[in-house]
Amino acid sequence: MSLDWQIVRFGCVDSTMDVLDERARGGAAEGLVVVADVQTAGRGRAGRAWTAAPESSLLCSILLRPRLMADRLGPLPLVIGVAVAQAIESFVDARCELKWPNDVLIEERKIAGILLQSRLGGDGIDWLNVGIGVNVSATGEQLPPGATSIAAAGGTADRDALLLILLRRLDVGYRDWARSGGRPNLDEWRRRASLLGELVTLIRDTSELHGTFLDVDADGRMELRLESGEMVQITQGDVARGPRRRDFAPGAPG
Ligand code: BTN
Repeated sequence: MSLDWQIVRFGCVDSTMDVLDERARGGAAEGLVVVADVQTAGRGRAGRAWTAAPESSLLCSILLRPRLMADRLGPLPLVIGVAVAQAIESFVDARCELKWPNDVLIEERKIAGILLQSRLGGDGIDWLNVGIGVNVSATGEQLPPGATSIAAAGGTADRDALLLILLRRLDVGYRDWARSGGRPNLDEWRRRASLLGELVTLIRDTSELHGTFLDVDADGRMELRLESGEMVQITQGDVARGPRRRDFAPGAPG
């Protein structure tokens, strides 16, 4: 059965993540979608800011309340990345790739970012706050370095139409993830993976690792073979192609 989406629209908010958390704390049902035209304190991964020119982006947070244990969450960010990539492709004649875990790229430029935050209860997941930002109509001058938008990539999209398709795609991926007990087939993610099989640098806080990005495992972790030959499973960090560049900015497409 499909989720019953309830879309609530705002002009300006600090962050859709905060609005959604407040409603979730108040008992809002799964399927609530908070959308805003403008955010004054948009948040990205790893504590970074997420900025977008007014009305240029789809900015939303989606409330999910899966009945699975928290240790099954790992692959979900990848599944959501696939859904966002597929939705964007409905509006632009270009292929979307995914940079682990779920930056959505067109021609190595970031077009969408996903921030998944979980609130855990005593016996599992209380709620998930899935924040998604897609650059829709922003022009080159409005975009940060290394970013693109649907318009800049030659497509046209209406933010409302994009949201509806995105929710449809997300619904399919989310139910598949839940039905599989949190162990979905990740082949579609692999087909879209940028940097798979390549030498990469993984940057985490103050440390970095160099190695070959071999695969993702059933938990959505990056399997990295270090230069020493040792295999490590990565759960967080920013990935960039090749040895670290002096100008590498975390969060930018690598
Ligand atoms: C990333 O760093 O790539 C994730 C960016 C997520 C941005 C979206 S925009 C809508 C929602 N509200 C926020 O404050 N952040 C997410």
